Amino acid sequence: MPAISASAPGKIIVFGEHAVVYHRPAIAAPVSVVAARAIIRAEPGRFPGGVRIQAPGIGLETELDQLPQAHPLAAAVAAACRELGVARLPACTIRITSTIPVAAGLGSGAAVSVALIRALSSFLGRPLPDERVNALAYEVETIHHGTPSGIDNTVITYRRAVYFFRDRPIEFLQVPRPFTIVIGDTGIASPTAAAVTRVRQSWQADPPRYERLFDRAGQVAEQARRRLEGGEPQALGSLMDENHAILCELGVSSPELDRLVAAARAAGALGAKLSGGGRGGNMIALPAPGRTEEVARALAAAGARRTLITEIHGA
Ligand code: PMV
Repeated sequence: MPAISASAPGKIIVFGEHAVVYHRPAIAAPVSVVAARAIIRAEPGRFPGGVRIQAPGIGLETELDQLPQAHPLAAAVAAACRELGVARLPACTIRITSTIPVAAGLGSGAAVSVALIRALSSFLGRPLPDERVNALAYEVETIHHGTPSGIDNTVITYRRAVYFFRDRPIEFLQVPRPFTIVIGDTGIASPTAAAVTRVRQSWQADPPRYERLFDRAGQVAEQARRRLEGGEPQALGSLMDENHAILCELGVSSPELDRLVAAARAAGALGAKLSGGGRGGNMIALPAPGRTEEVARALAAAGARRTLITEIHGA
């Protein structure tokens, strides 16, 4: 039997991170230049239930039953098996590879879960529909995030730009004029859960102030949607700047992120902001037409460990 494989892209949050946890709208888009992949190979010679997991990117090679239940890989396998009513997997090797930087706000955890759940369900002969893959990936996200909004698993499962409200039906964005975004990585690992906890503590200490900031972020996302769907992506720059200012007030930026944001603007970006949980990880910039390479070079010169160029388009 040939190996079964499935992949899932990375993602960026274009507007509304953190506020989305508090039921304000946000916009996210897939980033297909990076991806996670799960490859499953049957091992008929091995004893039933003998499942080997290899994830060379994080130095992991072990038997599935040696992983703690709360390990995201074990949790994704368990969720897929429960969904399909499979008590014991046929003997196999599961190999996970990914080009998505870890703990950087690009959705690496959700992408691994989506790829693994998809590959496993195909391996078991019953490929799951997107809706179920999304629900199971969300379950896995709750183990390491606590209170995820669900935006990461949604945009990654459907591979389409979304206008996202927590606990509401998914709305895909129309993007009549595709546009380019440059992503700059500070190289500083920043687990999302820590940033989300910090915002929660600040909100609990001063709810009116934080509710106002979340409202402003929600309004920015709403305006961005109108400009995007109206075919005016260049008009998003000032909204990105405004969103970054709100994220600074929320306390989730960092000197490194601010430096990259400033460098992008100085090199001809129409706007720039941190993207994802913040306090490290990635920022994004909207280059003026013809300035993409210049913005990417300026980010590298300002200390970005890596830059990616991605195109945002929609249904
Ligand atoms: O996974 P990250 O770092 O892109 O963060 C997700 C966005 C947050 O709004 C900060 C958290 C969430 O669950 O929506």
